[in-house]
Amino acid sequence: MKETTAIAHPNFALVKYWGKKDTKKNRPAMSSISVTVDTMYSKTKIFKNSQSRRHQLFINGVEESDLSKILPPLAYLSEFSKSDDYLIIQSQNNFPTTSGLASSASGISSFVTAYEAHYDLNLDISHRVESCLLGSGSAPRSLVGGFVLMDHNNNYKCTQILQKSDWPLDVLVCIVSKEQKEISSREGMEISKETSPIYHDWLQINDKHIQLALNAIKEKDMIGLESVTEENCKMMHEVMKTSTPSISYMTDVTHSCLTEIQSLRSSGHKLFYTIDAGPQVKIICDPNSTKIIKKSIIDNTDVIDVIQAGLGGPPRIIDEN
Ligand code: DP6
Repeated sequence: MKETTAIAHPNFALVKYWGKKDTKKNRPAMSSISVTVDTMYSKTKIFKNSQSRRHQLFINGVEESDLSKILPPLAYLSEFSKSDDYLIIQSQNNFPTTSGLASSASGISSFVTAYEAHYDLNLDISHRVESCLLGSGSAPRSLVGGFVLMDHNNNYKCTQILQKSDWPLDVLVCIVSKEQKEISSREGMEISKETSPIYHDWLQINDKHIQLALNAIKEKDMIGLESVTEENCKMMHEVMKTSTPSISYMTDVTHSCLTEIQSLRSSGHKLFYTIDAGPQVKIICDPNSTKIIKKSIIDNTDVIDVIQAGLGGPPRIIDEN
């Protein structure tokens, strides 16, 4: 039986998406900029379900009852394949799932990549973006490697700003907790859109932050990128905090990582952080400082683990035979 497997990497947003302009079609209300990482990945295998007339999704070997993120991309893609196959979709993450580590982005983009190859579709990038977007608003960015812009004014077109070799920064993912988060990004951003008094300001600032980040990346300006990334992150978490009910994903360990980052910066190391809808802290740093940053975080905070990565590439098909 034909089986197709693809690998895709997570991406972490430096200028973030938090809020939709269309919930039905899952359209982000703003543009975003991210980095795709290399050592973390989702590996997704698909094949025809010969046992039952339904799609079945397994994540890390466990069958999922919630197929709401995978069925819309699947329905969209089947318009191209003209296939009415029921599929088994087996996805494995080599990192903790559902704790703010972008597993849906890498999971969905690896699924879209596997499906496209399985049915020989040869889609253009706009159709790939569309199918990922229907699954998760951050997923299209994982279709592209390096530093990526997703432009909401241009049909969510995803373009590479710089590739890894242009500016080979490292990413350290500080695992603060492996617990599943209580409020999903999807629920949280709806609450923020409906209730945060600063949601409008958050929408307004997006263009400015995108421009600042684009310029900083093109000029490889670490200080400039630090400033806009951290400001954008703080503002997103302020939008969450000012929502009703108030949303907070950070823990004391998250804050201790931030204190450590500040002290490393005072000692002359080049690094900055971002935090998504979970307690984990992602540090982007000059590779010359990676070793010492990793050691300081492990020695001086209660993090569970630190995953080291560089910038990654686009999804790819792998041959498992
Ligand atoms: C905080 O892409 O997970 O990570 O579109 O509802 O699936 P859905 O949301 P999702 O939200 C990502 C939110 C974020 C910021 C970002 O990655 O831009």
